[in-house]
Amino acid sequence: MSIYDDLAPDDVAVLPRDALEEEVRLLRGENMLLQRKLKGIQEIGQILATDRQIDRVLVEIIKRATAIMGADRSTLYILQDDGETMLSKSTSGGQIQTIELKVGQGIAGWVAQHNRAVNVKDAYKDTRFDPAVDRASGYRTESILCCPLQDMNGQSLGVIQVLNKHDGYFTTADEGLLRAIAGQAAVCIRNSRLYLDVVSKNIDLLDTQLKLEERTAEIELLFRVERAAAMSMTQDDALSGALEHVIGEYPCTAAAVLLYDEGENALVADRVLGDGAPWLLGARVAVDGTLPGDCMRSNEPRSLRSSESARADSLGLPLPPELIVHNAVCLPIHGPDGGLGCLLLLNRTRDPRAFDERDIRILGMIASRMGLSITLARTILEERKAERLAAIGQTLSGVVHDLKTPLTIIGGYARLLAKEDDAAVRQQHRELIKRQIDAVQAMIQELLAFARGESQVLLRKVHVKDFLAEVSELLEAEFAGTGIELEVDADYRGAVRMDSAKMLRAVFNLARNAKEAMNGDGGGRFTVRAEERDGQVLFSFGDTGPGIPREMEGRLFDSFATFGKKNGTGLGLAIVKKIVDEHQGTLTVSSEPGHGTTFTLGLEL
Ligand SMILES: Nc1ncnc2c1ncn2[C@@H]1O[C@H](COP(=O)(O)OP(=O)(O)OP(=O)(O)O)[C@@H](O)[C@H]1O
Ligand SMILES: [Mg+2]
Repeated sequence: MSIYDDLAPDDVAVLPRDALEEEVRLLRGENMLLQRKLKGIQEIGQILATDRQIDRVLVEIIKRATAIMGADRSTLYILQDDGETMLSKSTSGGQIQTIELKVGQGIAGWVAQHNRAVNVKDAYKDTRFDPAVDRASGYRTESILCCPLQDMNGQSLGVIQVLNKHDGYFTTADEGLLRAIAGQAAVCIRNSRLYLDVVSKNIDLLDTQLKLEERTAEIELLFRVERAAAMSMTQDDALSGALEHVIGEYPCTAAAVLLYDEGENALVADRVLGDGAPWLLGARVAVDGTLPGDCMRSNEPRSLRSSESARADSLGLPLPPELIVHNAVCLPIHGPDGGLGCLLLLNRTRDPRAFDERDIRILGMIASRMGLSITLARTILEERKAERLAAIGQTLSGVVHDLKTPLTIIGGYARLLAKEDDAAVRQQHRELIKRQIDAVQAMIQELLAFARGESQVLLRKVHVKDFLAEVSELLEAEFAGTGIELEVDADYRGAVRMDSAKMLRAVFNLARNAKEAMNGDGGGRFTVRAEERDGQVLFSFGDTGPGIPREMEGRLFDSFATFGKKNGTGLGLAIVKKIVDEHQGTLTVSSEPGHGTTFTLGLEL
């Protein structure tokens, strides 16, 4: 585009030559200024788009502002968060300086306070000028052009000032140019603040995410330990399960559960995992003067972070002399009545860190859970003992009754024996008496084995007829109002040795399952039979339900195996199997989809 484009040919013709040349000179100057302004602003825009380092960007802006304006130096003041102080970046001979200025101080301070531009030809004639900065820097300020930096809402962000225009003083055109630069700088500051805000929020988020991940891992570990403990039937299983998770999460040379033995006043290594297990299994650690003993007594964690052999000795463990103890940690296992022992981890491997506070906290929770498992297991043992004694009490009259039969027989034969002269007949009587004494002894042995907890069932001779009468009574109540018909049929009318209370529980579990299976069809038939076959009494329990689901194949008698029930725990059949095993009996099942299920339970005669 030519600068003449806007002039009509007629206008050109009527203008005198000098005036025309003057006009062209002015227009050319204006055009150059416009182009410079455009270029400068473009460059600043580019920097803004490519560089996120606010300091670098601002330095570039002031360098370019100085060059574009044909000034000696420029300063950009940024208002601080306190709203009273401004910090500056300024160029002087390529050097970047930082100056602090109060809002209201000097011309720049005035501009910041009033949010209005100032253009001064001679600074020293302006009362707002503060010569202190000149005095400090040895510089001589003459002309000043200073513009406020405002954000989109007119909020003050700082000021930009250019000093000492090379050819005189700053013009109105310069003012417009500086305003444009100030606008760009304001955008830059605002963007950078937004950017920094986003960055800091991202850092916070990342931090939160890391913490969350750590917490999730902790909770998962605790959950696994909890599940292992809850699924365990015995103390040994619970402790082993928990210890496996511990060593899985904290690989170390040895992880051990030391339990307090009152008789010996020592801690005994009850379970040990890891490469160092052979040294520690069954090891005894004195309570006095050792780290594990101190940990149990004080109910506080204790740790060791030293390779000094003197301190390693304080563990009281029978470790090989060549083993260097790098670190160890003991967590108390506590019960309601005091210390039960401690969880010990020796030499963390793979991870060069010793056990930190977080590890100690998590391991401490696991040790507490171990304490709960031990307490629960001991309570269950106590309860079982009490139950056994109660069971003996309840059945004692029956046991005495059972004993009466052989004793009467013995008494009878003893009397016959006294009168009998024939040696052969006497021998026969003796044999019969001996057989009855064996039977009495067997009964007493069973009673004692049950009392000591060696046997879980208290076997007594039970008449099948009486047992089935009890079964009928129980199941009639269970099936009442369900549309299930009960049929009890006894082919065998003799007696069999069983723990009738436990056997009733097994029958009840089978009947409850049958009821649940048939309920969907709105009823059916449950048949109980007893017959003798091959030296066994076979009790069968058949239903007309839908049959056992395929999903239960291979795990029907497993604990916690359940299918198709809302609130099934999967323990019913596991308990039946346990009771049958305790009777050394047999348990079989036959089931066909749509044709019902029959469980058959065999007891030796
Ligand atoms: N008579 C039956 N007919 C059909 N399915 C059966 C029968 N008995 C057991 N089952 C199946 O076997 C599964 C396991 O039974 P079990 O008694 O062990 O546990 P549960 O009944 O699910 O739960 P719980 O008895 O602990 O409340 C049942 O969930 C059911 O799917
Ligand atoms: Mg069940």
